[in-house]
Formats: sequence, structure tokens, C-alpha cells
Amino acid sequence: MPQYLLLPAPSANRVYADGASAMVRAELTALGAALGGRIGPVEPESVAGVEYLAFHIDEPERGDLAFLALTSAFYALFEREGNLLRPVEAPSAERYPSDLKTILKYQGKTNEQFTRLLLNVTAAATARPERLLDGALRVLDPVCGRGTTLSQAAMYGLDAVGVDLDAKDFELYSSFLTTWLKDHRLKHRASTTPVRRDKAVLAKKFEAVFAPDKAAYAAGDTRSVTFYLADTLRTAELIRPGTVDVVVADLPYGVQHGSRGPRGLVRSPLELLDGALPGWASTLRSGGAVGLAWNDRVAPRAQVAEALESAGLTVRGGPGYDELRHRVDRSITRDVIVAVKG
Ligand SMILES: C[S@@+](CC[C@H](N)C(=O)[O-])C[C@H]1O[C@@H](n2cnc3c(N)ncnc32)[C@H](O)[C@@H]1O
Repeated sequence: MPQYLLLPAPSANRVYADGASAMVRAELTALGAALGGRIGPVEPESVAGVEYLAFHIDEPERGDLAFLALTSAFYALFEREGNLLRPVEAPSAERYPSDLKTILKYQGKTNEQFTRLLLNVTAAATARPERLLDGALRVLDPVCGRGTTLSQAAMYGLDAVGVDLDAKDFELYSSFLTTWLKDHRLKHRASTTPVRRDKAVLAKKFEAVFAPDKAAYAAGDTRSVTFYLADTLRTAELIRPGTVDVVVADLPYGVQHGSRGPRGLVRSPLELLDGALPGWASTLRSGGAVGLAWNDRVAPRAQVAEALESAGLTVRGGPGYDELRHRVDRSITRDVIVAVKG
């Protein structure tokens, strides 16, 4: 059975400090579960003073390598041959220039590498994780801020939809994405329109439809990014039930951003979750998954799990999924929880 060594990008140390190796290991373990049990335990291993993550794969297939290359901190992959490491080319899942994720910089942005991790581990828990690679998953971020998740999903060639009630975030992301599509000469159409219900305006909707090249655009092989300026408590009024595969949300940390729940602005995201989760869950197809990241200093994991279960979802535990808690700074310890819709 061949043994592989994955070299994580040095940037993981900047994102997770001392926790980098544990986070990459947990992500790889969660992604590996999508390989149908053919990946063995992932263990850190030092070779000539460089830290790798080592694992075996039983009868590896080309698609497996594409899954490994999804890892948010992926840098390079090697196969061990005796005392030597042979470089293995793993196909990249990213279909657009990476500045789509990196140009926008602002306070409160969810780190890009972490956003990719959250999307990966949530998609890996769905009934059809391979759809992460074939562009057939639809992703919702119901508290999308300035669109880090939307851009990551677009990079993977997935359809993405976001909701946020911050008008500045809406304006900045919609104008950024439109300019980015123009600058990269990508064939597209983009518009902002009001969404009305019973003669009242429910939301403002930005939608961009695009393709990596003209031929794909002409053939209708397009993807879309949609952003609703609205309260996420109204998600079920904006997005049809059973049309989303993955919901990912980096919840307000209660430090700079509060959660706007049914009773106004509060530090803990629990009230927001109680009000919003039934709507978020209704958008999911069966076999879909929700992944939440939050500051566990303002909301204990058991209560977040309870909110997910109350919305009819089943929390996914086990290797990888129970090991994603990490320190961000003095006031934030971030945890991740994933739950699936039966
Ligand atoms: C941690 S930030 C998300 C940042 C985002 N991932 C990014 O990289 O830009 C949390 C977001 O939740 C939004 N939010 C809080 N309460 C909300 C509500 N009731 N409806 C919609 N958005 C809400 C805030 O406006 C903020 O943008």
C-alpha cells in the first residue's frame, strides 16, 4: 500500500500558529473519509527536519489525488519510495486566478485558508462529496460578510449564494466581483435588483453569472454568485427549499461583530442560531450538510450542537470532525461543528 507525505504550505503556521499541524491533520482526515475508508490514519512525520503529514492509501485512484489537493494548506505531495520522496502531481481544484480570494482585505474577514477548510470539511460530510470536484454542489453562506466563502466556492467552480444584512459589505463585494470579472476579461453578466414580496422590498439581490471561457459561456456552462442584502432570519423566504448542498457560516464572534438575532444585537450567536437555523436547514437537500465556525468563549459547543439537533440535523462526530478547535487570538478560540440533513 503506497505511503504519501503531504507538505503543508508554510502559511498554515501563520493562520493557526502552534495548532497548524493538528488542523491540517484533522482536515485531511475529514476529507479522507470521503475516500470510502481507503485512507489510513494521518500522522505527522518529520523528514530531514521538515514536517509532513504521512498516510497510506489503499489502491489510490486519480480522483483521490484531487481530493488531497483540496486540503486548504496543500503545498506539495510526495510518494515514499524507500528512502526517497517522489513528487506526485495532484490536480488543482481551483479554476480561477487566486486573487479572487486575496484582493479584498478588511477587518473581520474570515481567513481565506480557514474558509476553504470549513467548506471542505462540510462538503466532505455530504452524501456526495465527490460533487465538490465536479462543480455540482451549491453553497450557501447565510452570514457571508464580504464574500470570502462565495469567492472560494466560485474558485472551485461551484454555485454560491450569500446573505448578509450589512449594506457596506453588499456594496463592496458586488462592485469588487464585477470589477474582478471585467479585469480578468471573463465573459459574464451581473445585476442588482430588488426582491419584492407582497409589494414590499424584502431584499436587494446581486447576481453574477460567468464562465472561465467564452465557449463555456456560450454553451450555458456557467456558474453564479448571488448575494442577498437581507436579514438571515428571512433566508427561507429568499432561497427555495431543498436547493442547497452545503451551508457554511463563520458566525459573528461577539468581539467586533455581534449577532443580530430576533431580540437585537447580542454577543452570543446562539439566539441568531435558534432563529435562523430552521430556515438555513430548509434550504438544504437531503444528504446536505451545515458547517459552523464560532468563538466558543461566547457559546459552548454543546449548545451549538443542541441548536443544530433542534433544527432536525445530525451532528457529525469522529476523527477529524472533533479536532478542529483552535486558538485565534486572546479573545477568540474558534471551534467548528458539522451536521448533516438525513
Ligand atoms: C464573522 S462575520 C463573517 C465574515 C465573512 N465570512 C467574511 O469573510 O467576510 C459575521 C457576519 O454576520 C453578519 N450578521 C450578523 N447578524 C446577521 C443577521 N441577522 N443577518 C445577516 N447577517 C448577519 C455580520 O454582518 C457579519 O458580516
